[in-house]
Amino acid sequence: MADDLRLDGKVALITGAAGEIGTATMQLFAARGARIVAVDRDEAQLQRAVATLPVEARALALAADVRHEDDVAGYVRRAVEAAGTIDVFFNNAGIEGTVAPVQDYSLDDFRRVLDVNVVGVFLGIKHVLPVMLRANAGSIVNTASIAGLSGSPHIAVYSASKHAVIGLTKSVAMECARTAVRVNCVCPGLIRSRMLSAIFEGRDPNASADAERVLARIPAHRLGLGSEVAQTVAFLASDAASYVNGAAYVVDGGRTAG
Ligand SMILES: NC(=O)c1ccc[n+]([C@@H]2O[C@H](COP(=O)([O-])OP(=O)(O)OC[C@H]3O[C@@H](n4cnc5c(N)ncnc54)[C@H](O)[C@@H]3O)[C@@H](O)[C@H]2O)c1
Repeated sequence: MADDLRLDGKVALITGAAGEIGTATMQLFAARGARIVAVDRDEAQLQRAVATLPVEARALALAADVRHEDDVAGYVRRAVEAAGTIDVFFNNAGIEGTVAPVQDYSLDDFRRVLDVNVVGVFLGIKHVLPVMLRANAGSIVNTASIAGLSGSPHIAVYSASKHAVIGLTKSVAMECARTAVRVNCVCPGLIRSRMLSAIFEGRDPNASADAERVLARIPAHRLGLGSEVAQTVAFLASDAASYVNGAAYVVDGGRTAG
């Protein structure tokens, strides 16, 4: 019997591929048989991440900035030229932005976060969707956050941007509901990463000394790993999730359960 979790023969396009969650996910996609097209604006780190993949992944690394429509149209065009189609799109690039009370936020900083986290996700969907609709097949997984489900102090714009990602996901899923293209998002909780350290540092420079207080609010009593987010993304990407559409999957060790 075929294993529906496998991604053999599928072309997977991943943004933010040089980061913690993006790299872990592209490694799992590759292990499950996918061909990889990896996108990030950090070209050096992207090359290092892609170098960890097996040759069977036939990985293509593309430096691009998800905020710019020309870049997005370009990475989609080059993916299709190289691999023929796009079966899976992990729309994952994001930034935390400045960590500060909202009254201390400059308008430029506010717009910078929306530009990457919302405009970048929108542009990715806009340019990938026609490829998938033409094939009448595909899975888009956007990266939201548990900060998209409730408020989060000192990262108000990040939280607003992730609420927007969930809204985009659900709306586009409904637009595609009669097709074989599915659109879902993943909502990671506190994942051990550079981004999480930056948020903790921004809220409180002594935060590392206060790790116990953070863990006390997570029922699993530990931080999550990029590889644990990757497992859920790979499920949503696969044919095993054929009836999952418009969902926001929480991966947070129970943080939002209570
Ligand atoms: N780390 C966490 O605890 C956590 C929790 C919830 C959600 N998330 C989300 O997961 C996603 C990945 O986060 P991560 O923890 O891997 O962070 P990360 O900083 O390790 O990775 C983000 C990647 O996105 C890339 N990127 C940023 N702006 C870009 C742009 N304009 N164009 C192209 N690439 C760009 C960066 O270069 C980086 O490689 C983000 O959307 C983030 O908001 C992370």
